[in-house]
Amino acid sequence: MIYANYAATSPALSPDVVRELSAYLQETHLNAGRNFEGLETGTIALRARRAVGKLFNVTNPLRVIFTSGATAALNMAINGLLKPGCHVIATGVEHNASARPLNALHKAGIIKLEWLKCAGDGSLEPESVKKAIKKNTRLLVMTHASNVLGTILPVKDCFEIAKKNNVFTVLDTAQTGGVLPCTMDDFCDVMAFAGHKGLGGLAGCGGFALSERAALELTPWLRGGTGSASQSFDMPETLPDKFEPGTQNTIGILSLAVSVEEILRIGVEKIRELELNLVARFLSGLQCIKKIEVCGTGAAATGVAVVSVVIHNRDAGDVSRQLFEDNGIITRSGLHCSPLAHKTAGTFPSGTVRFSFGRYTTEAEIDTILEALDTL
Ligand SMILES: Cc1ncc(COP(=O)(O)O)c(C=O)c1O
Repeated sequence: MIYANYAATSPALSPDVVRELSAYLQETHLNAGRNFEGLETGTIALRARRAVGKLFNVTNPLRVIFTSGATAALNMAINGLLKPGCHVIATGVEHNASARPLNALHKAGIIKLEWLKCAGDGSLEPESVKKAIKKNTRLLVMTHASNVLGTILPVKDCFEIAKKNNVFTVLDTAQTGGVLPCTMDDFCDVMAFAGHKGLGGLAGCGGFALSERAALELTPWLRGGTGSASQSFDMPETLPDKFEPGTQNTIGILSLAVSVEEILRIGVEKIRELELNLVARFLSGLQCIKKIEVCGTGAAATGVAVVSVVIHNRDAGDVSRQLFEDNGIITRSGLHCSPLAHKTAGTFPSGTVRFSFGRYTTEAEIDTILEALDTL
């Protein structure tokens, strides 16, 4: 079996994660954290907040909030930051995790939504952000890298323009967390992350990091018990409680803590270098296969390890199935939950076959995939 679907989810947990999760499952859990209001010292969540905070350069670990994933984080950020009647800008390569909540708010007449046009390779001119900003623009939502084309967007430049115009910024790092340096610095207000992709944790965990001003402005979208300030019907203002009601996914959060600590030991730059080499090898091999067209070439060589292809006269789903049945190669075909990116690339509604690589991918696997594509 060759796994080439890292953009969807990471296939395996590292030995360190497995060891710590196994030990956790064999222990008794007394939920001590919630007996002492505001006291998180020594808990799994604080360990994870510290690791994730270090990875994303968040000065205060309490500004790292855990959710069930990037989808929940993006819904919470979008719904919690907007004001009725405001104008919201998002790019033409967003994943449905943000495109659907934004579209629903637009359809309900709560916001005015504007999609920024990207070039066919998914790239975006920061100038287009400047042009789109209006007096009532409240929010700029951007994915860090397209999950279809691999293209990395010029987030820093776009967010700096937004910040100068007092526009809140929301970044989706689902495709870049743990594989490309991502940093909150002072230009990002909400950075949403998926736990089960490049961050190497379990499915069902993720979250977001917040700027100081976003922590104050963001209204909780999910409300419930926090074990703190229980006398009040309102959510507490303290972090992380303001955004973490209910019993948390401790095992998922532990998987994140261990995996992110490991990523910090390896170094994101090192992981990035490995992935760039794999993509370069794959793209150079694809050049020799005439029937294959790479979508967004150019961007793919400098993007994250995600390459979408179209095979002349073949249905993407059929190719994906054949690669699996004949060669045990796991890819993902179709629209990849991002019809916007496919419209941008000109591959809507037929879709593409997407190959995505990660830290366990080997050069030998890339060569086997190329051989299989050559004999299609
Ligand atoms: C760009 C992008 N955003 C958001 C998501 C959703 O992430 P999660 O599974 O953590 O909700 C994905 C996952 O496919 C993605 O690729």
